[in-house]
Amino acid sequence: MQTKTKKYFIFTWGCQMNEHKSEGIAGVLAREGYQPANDLSEADVVIFNTCMVREKPEDKVYSEAGKIGEYKANKPDLLLGVGGCVAQALKEKLFRRSDDIDFVFGSSNISDIPRLIEEARNLQPMLNGRYRPVMAIDKIADKIEDLPFVRVSPFQAKVTITEGCSNFCSFCIVPYTTGLLRSRLPGDIIAEVSALADQNYQEVQLLGQNVDSYGKDMDDPNINFANLLRAITHLEIQRIRFTSSHPQDITGDVIEVMGKPNNICEHLHMAVQSGSDAVLEEMRRGYTKERFLNLVRDLKDGVPGVNITTDIIVGYPTESESDFEETVDLVKKARFGGAYIFKYSPRPGTVSFYKFKPDQDVPDAEKQRRLEILLAVQKQITFEENQKRIGQKVEVLAEGHARAGDPHLYLGKSRDNKAVVFRSLINPIGTMVNVRVREALVAGLQGEIESAPALIPVSVHA
Ligand code: SAM
Ligand code: SF4
Ligand code: F3S
Repeated sequence: MQTKTKKYFIFTWGCQMNEHKSEGIAGVLAREGYQPANDLSEADVVIFNTCMVREKPEDKVYSEAGKIGEYKANKPDLLLGVGGCVAQALKEKLFRRSDDIDFVFGSSNISDIPRLIEEARNLQPMLNGRYRPVMAIDKIADKIEDLPFVRVSPFQAKVTITEGCSNFCSFCIVPYTTGLLRSRLPGDIIAEVSALADQNYQEVQLLGQNVDSYGKDMDDPNINFANLLRAITHLEIQRIRFTSSHPQDITGDVIEVMGKPNNICEHLHMAVQSGSDAVLEEMRRGYTKERFLNLVRDLKDGVPGVNITTDIIVGYPTESESDFEETVDLVKKARFGGAYIFKYSPRPGTVSFYKFKPDQDVPDAEKQRRLEILLAVQKQITFEENQKRIGQKVEVLAEGHARAGDPHLYLGKSRDNKAVVFRSLINPIGTMVNVRVREALVAGLQGEIESAPALIPVSVHA
């Protein structure tokens, strides 16, 4: 008798590193014979890969688990597993607030998922509604878990270079949920990127909470981010990206490598968080407004056409109106290509959570006002910077369709990470095309394809 193929459905919240972890979860399940479900109704196992960086992430887990619980009414065999940063932080507490969760796994326990599924399945008929946690949460391992990634895209790949973070910015939960900085060995990273080149991947994105701190946990001073990038420029991958960069750790050497004609893309996501020296010090960011603006200048001088994007937090507990004005001033001077702006959210476990009492928090309406002011300033800058691209020819990696129902309209990214929409009669997805920019909006660029996918020459790597 033929057995039915088991299927999984993964929900991912949070950062790119979490998205990549989900590719690892998919790989572990695929090794057990599971296939991805097209929608929830097909799934035998649902996984939540959670994030707790902002707002009320626990509440989201419970409310989403409740929705899976409703599904279970018609499909009692369905299992729900919760992993990621909320699981690492809350552990068995998750079972106390939700009867719908069947198993919980930690950030270093992805390989344990098949065993947990088995245990949860065996327990299920005996439970009769009684609470019994099935869980694997180890202390974050020193070694980065080696996972059999099943990548979502056949032409864009994420590659982890570091996990964890040792910076302990006052507001941030990440070091507590992902552990201290751990770097992979350069040989392992290069071998993985080479293998991706052999599989014809066009673009590789190097991932770390702070990629520029790569190697700082190792004794050999030659193991650093600039040298890693230098080594990767020799590999047959058309585009190398990385995220995130920390202003405190970017060296002149990194700027020099980025400035050469090679496969490293001219985009840098570098969170500034605030433009006020006093707030930056409170946040423990390790730089001043002036140092940050000098770094922006050095990057723009050293890397022609670089697009610098950023993260900003408004309404940190000590942020006064004049501190906020400093941030507005910094944004106007730095002229970022784009910015994610967040309202400060106290995270239990962090330094700022314990240091400031709830009545010291900036009122939400004020946070919202500051967020809207900054958004408007940044929107105008993004628009003006995008306008400068009109008439330029840009190399675009076609990523997918731009709009449902229009089969010839495609969306891709330029090397400097601008979204570019264009029309093509041949399906170009997964290839490089040249697009002449005709229109520029805040969300990105629009243009006409100048060379058909097959006619694009392979770029030369320096
Ligand atoms: N490692 C990155 C860095 O330092 O550049 C950032 C990692 S964090 C996942 C992404 C962003 O979330 C941060 O840059 C920060 O702006 C925001 N963030 C982190 N903790 C926050 C908090 N408690 N409240 C609001 N935003 C927060
Ligand atoms: Fe969080 Fe700071 Fe580390 Fe970024 S550098 S992950 S903001 S502690
Ligand atoms: Fe969120 Fe964890 Fe990433 S808290 S941002 S998923 S490291």
